[in-house]
Amino acid sequence: MTRKLFVTTALPYANAAFHIGHMMEYIQADIWVRFQRMQRDAGTQRVVHFVGADDTHGTPIMIAAEKEGVTPQEFVAKIAAGRAQYLDGFHIAFDNWHSTDSPENVDLSQSIYRRLRDNGLIYTKTVDRFYDTAKGMFLADRNIKGECPVCHAKDQYGDNCEVCGAAYQPTELINPYSVFTGSTPILKPSEQYFFKLSDPRCFQFLKEWLNTPGRLQPEMVNKVSEWLGENGEKLADWDISRDAPYFGIPIPDAPGKFFYVWLDAPVGYLASLKNYFEKKGIDYEAFLNDPAAEQVHFIGKDIVSFHLLFWPAMLNFSGHPIIDKLKVNVHGHLTVNNEKMSKSRGTGISPLRYLDLKMNPEWLRYYLAFKLNAKVEDLDFTGEDFVARVNSDLIGKYVNIASRCAGFIAKRFDGKLASTLSDDAKQWIARALNGEHGERQASIAANFEAREFGKALREIMEVADVANRYVDENKPWILAKDETKTAELHDVCTAALILFRQLTILLSPVLPHVAAQVRAFLGDDAYSWDDTQGERVTAPLLGRTINAYSHLMQRVDAKMVEDLFDKPAPAATPAAETAVTTAEPAAPAAAVATAEASDIEPLAPEISIDDFTKIDLRVAKIVNCEHVEGAGKLLRLTLDVGEGRYRNVFSGIKSAYQPEQLIGKLTVVVANLAPRKMKFGVSEGMVLCASAQDEKANPGLYLLEPVSGAQPGMRIR
Ligand code: 2FM
Ligand code: ZN
Repeated sequence: MTRKLFVTTALPYANAAFHIGHMMEYIQADIWVRFQRMQRDAGTQRVVHFVGADDTHGTPIMIAAEKEGVTPQEFVAKIAAGRAQYLDGFHIAFDNWHSTDSPENVDLSQSIYRRLRDNGLIYTKTVDRFYDTAKGMFLADRNIKGECPVCHAKDQYGDNCEVCGAAYQPTELINPYSVFTGSTPILKPSEQYFFKLSDPRCFQFLKEWLNTPGRLQPEMVNKVSEWLGENGEKLADWDISRDAPYFGIPIPDAPGKFFYVWLDAPVGYLASLKNYFEKKGIDYEAFLNDPAAEQVHFIGKDIVSFHLLFWPAMLNFSGHPIIDKLKVNVHGHLTVNNEKMSKSRGTGISPLRYLDLKMNPEWLRYYLAFKLNAKVEDLDFTGEDFVARVNSDLIGKYVNIASRCAGFIAKRFDGKLASTLSDDAKQWIARALNGEHGERQASIAANFEAREFGKALREIMEVADVANRYVDENKPWILAKDETKTAELHDVCTAALILFRQLTILLSPVLPHVAAQVRAFLGDDAYSWDDTQGERVTAPLLGRTINAYSHLMQRVDAKMVEDLFDKPAPAATPAAETAVTTAEPAAPAAAVATAEASDIEPLAPEISIDDFTKIDLRVAKIVNCEHVEGAGKLLRLTLDVGEGRYRNVFSGIKSAYQPEQLIGKLTVVVANLAPRKMKFGVSEGMVLCASAQDEKANPGLYLLEPVSGAQPGMRIR
């Protein structure tokens, strides 16, 4: 039967760019999805719908938009516009990217709510909430600060103390104040809407749902079982309402009340699917009622309660039969050198910088996959380990096979592979592809299916080891020197390329672009997992004329990895710490992300490409650099812009560089800037530097430098 998989990753808050933790989750899900999509043949076929969306609602986004003087819709649209560069950059192939602030999500959230209400699972209760009279709004726990009632640390949030770790109610804070106005909030009664998780039906359902074999990781079953209690006595009702002003979805028949962001966020999974199906002409209702349909979420360990308590209960009691096929795959957090990522300590990795440094995205995919397993374990990124793993496995073991053999096929056999194989070659192929327990492809497939990617890759590298041993023992470079060994050379190189092709197929969920290059090289169509079995292993290449081989992948340069890390900020303050993931859901993650988003200078007004092309930016070589007598801030640069003459440019970068640091370096100059007469001479252009908006708080000044290889005079476009 064809399995129909609806796969999602956690919907990111739309108040900040992606960090490396997001990329890790998306890469994990993307590899799994690509593996499923390779099951194409009759009997194993899987159809996958892989969707994501921005999680747009809630107070932090509303406040961030207010700060920027734009509507929340404008604010999230700007964030959404930045998503594609990350997803495309790391070869993450969602079928659809949508938003929780969409008509589909409004409809679905309201209709799910109505069904829960009709089922007797919603009730209202008036509770006292903190209210900021100066701002005219109720305050979320993270909008209130005060003295910790336990350790008396000042300025602690309303839900827990970051000094002693105590958790409490905001009403327990000593001298509470609003983070918006600093005023003392008052307690004001407000009618709130609750989801009755304490209803015995919820306990009965959740207990059974959690304990369905194969649905959840064992550690998750244990954890959530603890939250349920023996008889459901630990299940507390959930406040799903927020008072206006709030950026959210209105609660039906409840004027001035909105759904709490975590109510409509997971519904956003369905909204994105529905939106996608509408575009593709697929019947949404029919899919959700199809016994062959499965729903699979990939999430981090910090948002488990929402996905393993509230969400299944919501789906079940609103009449979604797909709940029987819901699986939630939980991963740990990404750490760097075994620490939580932190900008001020210089350990944060920016995904965009990774791409800007022209680091191959498939290196990261491979490295993360190698470290991923099906457990809820943290995963550590270490620079040296990354370099060693990628260079040794991908370059030393995998690419190496093709680069040692492909040239002989082109030069000596006009690109044509041998039409038959010797028994020895056949034996080596079998030896490489079969392990102790039969065909390796079967256990590799089982490991991909179970998200044991590290195990799958280790086994694939065992195949590569045998293939390399085969090449080492037969030494095609020696065979090539002996005319009488031509047939042997043909045999060995053909067998080696057959194994190389098998490795490519096995690696293709992880390395999709490399696989596409290899397909072009070998003249193959899209790979299916069945290409790793039986006749399809050797037959397609025998006698085939293949294309010229071009190098598939560079080695990682350790210097690049050094440049990947954030530089430690000059004056680190605790507020600058940016933990990439947090133990507490919604609010802290959002607050952290907001702080990060507001760090950068607002963008200048939009320009057209014509505006941009008016500026002639050129690569320049700094042939000399010296102090300027009497000038406190300037350095004199002598630049070669490839014009057959040198330019003289004064630049205010003395505080950042010694002249000798710059001589010989390449930089970027505005070459068509009108010459400017200065006290010390004429400046013929301007070199470009990066700096923070607030130069006092963050005084660094960084001269732009093209990656090596650029030549003086080249235009930047
Ligand atoms: O923790 C987060 O980043 C949330 N925005 C995840 C939401 S997942 C789903 F429920 F939408
Ligand atoms: Zn405390």
